Amino acid sequence: MKHIKNFRLPNFLHGADYNYEQWLEYPEILEQDFTLMKEANCNVMAVGIFSWAKLEPEEGVFNFEWMDNLLDHLHNNGLKAILATPTGSKPVWLSKKYPEVCRVDINGNREPHGIRHNHCRTSPIYREKSIIINKKLAERYKDHPALLMWHVNNEYNSGDCFCKNCLEAFQKWLEKRYGTIKNLNRAWWTTFWSHTYSDWKEIEPFDKSVQGLMLDWKRFKSDQTLDFFLTESEPLREITPDTPITVNFMEPDVELDYWSFAPYVSTISWDCYPKWHREKNDHMEAVKTAFYHDLYRSMKDQPFMLMESSPNVTNWQGISIPKKDGMHELSSLQAIAHGSDTVQYFQWRQSRGGEEQYHGAVVTHCNRTETRVFQGVKKVGEVLNNLSEICGSNTDSEVVILYDFHNEWSINLTQHARNIDKDYQKECVEYYKTFWERGISVDIKDFSCKDLSRYKIVIAPMMHLLREDIDKTLKEYVKKGGVLITTFLSGYVDETNLSYIGGAPGPLKELTGIWIEDTEILNENNTQTFTYNSKIYESTHFAERIHAESAEVISYFNTPPLKNCPSVTLNRFEKGQVYFVASRTSEQFKRDLFNDINREINITNHYPNDLPDGVTIRCREKEGYRYYFVMNFNSYPTQLNMEGFTLYEVHTNNLINNELDLLPYGIRVLKNRMN
Ligand code: GLA
Ligand code: ZN
Repeated sequence: MKHIKNFRLPNFLHGADYNYEQWLEYPEILEQDFTLMKEANCNVMAVGIFSWAKLEPEEGVFNFEWMDNLLDHLHNNGLKAILATPTGSKPVWLSKKYPEVCRVDINGNREPHGIRHNHCRTSPIYREKSIIINKKLAERYKDHPALLMWHVNNEYNSGDCFCKNCLEAFQKWLEKRYGTIKNLNRAWWTTFWSHTYSDWKEIEPFDKSVQGLMLDWKRFKSDQTLDFFLTESEPLREITPDTPITVNFMEPDVELDYWSFAPYVSTISWDCYPKWHREKNDHMEAVKTAFYHDLYRSMKDQPFMLMESSPNVTNWQGISIPKKDGMHELSSLQAIAHGSDTVQYFQWRQSRGGEEQYHGAVVTHCNRTETRVFQGVKKVGEVLNNLSEICGSNTDSEVVILYDFHNEWSINLTQHARNIDKDYQKECVEYYKTFWERGISVDIKDFSCKDLSRYKIVIAPMMHLLREDIDKTLKEYVKKGGVLITTFLSGYVDETNLSYIGGAPGPLKELTGIWIEDTEILNENNTQTFTYNSKIYESTHFAERIHAESAEVISYFNTPPLKNCPSVTLNRFEKGQVYFVASRTSEQFKRDLFNDINREINITNHYPNDLPDGVTIRCREKEGYRYYFVMNFNSYPTQLNMEGFTLYEVHTNNLINNELDLLPYGIRVLKNRMN
């Protein structure tokens, strides 16, 4: 399939998921909704999500009247529609008449009808019925002036279905990948425990002891989900070739390879639900959220969409604390700062029943506008209007962190001496924090990235599953003068999860100039430190016994049994440099190492002064202007020293000099001309 055209929004979008179909018996409420939407400064609604039963109440019987009214009302009130295909949840008649659309669990039991997001992604019937309803929607609304873009399905997930159709599709997928059963046996090392297969039909994804099988099952589910998306969205591409398409992603822990979707969506969109106010402070939550925003921006190197966020609380986290004053605007604009061109919520109006009746909403059961939440939403709409010149702007990064989903799956499913707290994503986020604290922009790429030449530094923690193509890309990059930091747990296995002959770090030996003998697993009774530049740092979790070959040892471990073994090495590879960090290290070490490297590489920092704890800056650039989002994730006010800067506040055009005041959870947006 052809990659899809990219797409840019003409102005910031502000809106919410709107389930009009739940309120058809309450015309006065519906009437009121459109007035309130305008009052809340909304210009878009995501509609039709989960509305299949209302659109097709019986098989082949369609009812579009309510959707006609909804789209007309939106248009007449100056709002656009992000029109969803309703296929994220199936109507009862579909499950009852065609049980194959329901998933089958590991015991071979067909799941009963219910919940959502749980259809079999292989079922020919589900595919056929999805195509029919999606085609009808596209035909009916292709020329509707409210139609802005397609929102396909909702939050695809990687849940298991072990039905006959899925198993057969998996076997075919394997056949295509490996060609012969002999290749498959070799790739999965099936002689172990006598797991050798002699026919594709024997293969079932139940055997947790075969890592290659488990990894391929995850890959298959991800590919099959992509295939389902491409299938159900085909009528949209055909009938409305100029209407952009998106699917809403979640936090990147759902075991779908979102990178493989990126070429087929016009824009990345995602649903962001941080757990604010749960810890002593919100710094780490802000860092993690920023990392996710950057991940989704980097996927297409273009602005993304914040498709959902809660205007207040969720109702599915253990506890969800209402956003403190300022946090709604701050977290909404955090997305914009990192490259979103939209702020959207789940949900416009709280439902009266169902699992989400007490999930935060712009309009709650009290049905009033003087609420803190409604007023907060209205204010964000106002702010977005004031910042509209920033829409479509770019982010320029000289730093990239490699974070790869297949690698994460491999780390988690391979049994090592440590099987808890492996924390791959956390390790990436901790490296990311070093840059967040200094207001330096970072891109996030995965191992399919083919060209790293635009970056001054690449940080690739825990490259456990080291594909040869990323090794090649890294070599090209370092050869020409690039700087790479990689760490413990790198270069262990190949694409099919087989350990490299010759041990770790596999093909990375050349770049790193070291080899790995084994690993100390650290805990409170087995501790380790190392000395770097005369300072002592603690290692945790993993500490590898490495041997330097061409690499220079720049720091050593202090405690037996690793005493005097290298803990950090530097290998000069042609014009570039490769740092290898043999243990999990503290934030302070990551900071200090970067500071030392930075003396040579000089990463551009638009605010080179020290930032107070919990404060960060992100920049976007457009048409000769640089925009600075200065964010305070503290519950107390703070100030920045702006001496030497000539910056103007975007919405007032006031010159900011000397001090910049930030309220608790405050944000200021400034700009200057780029030179
Ligand atoms: C997800 C879904 C929404 C809703 C929200 C609640 O993001 O897409 O339908 O369930 O969660 O937080
Ligand atoms: Zn299935």
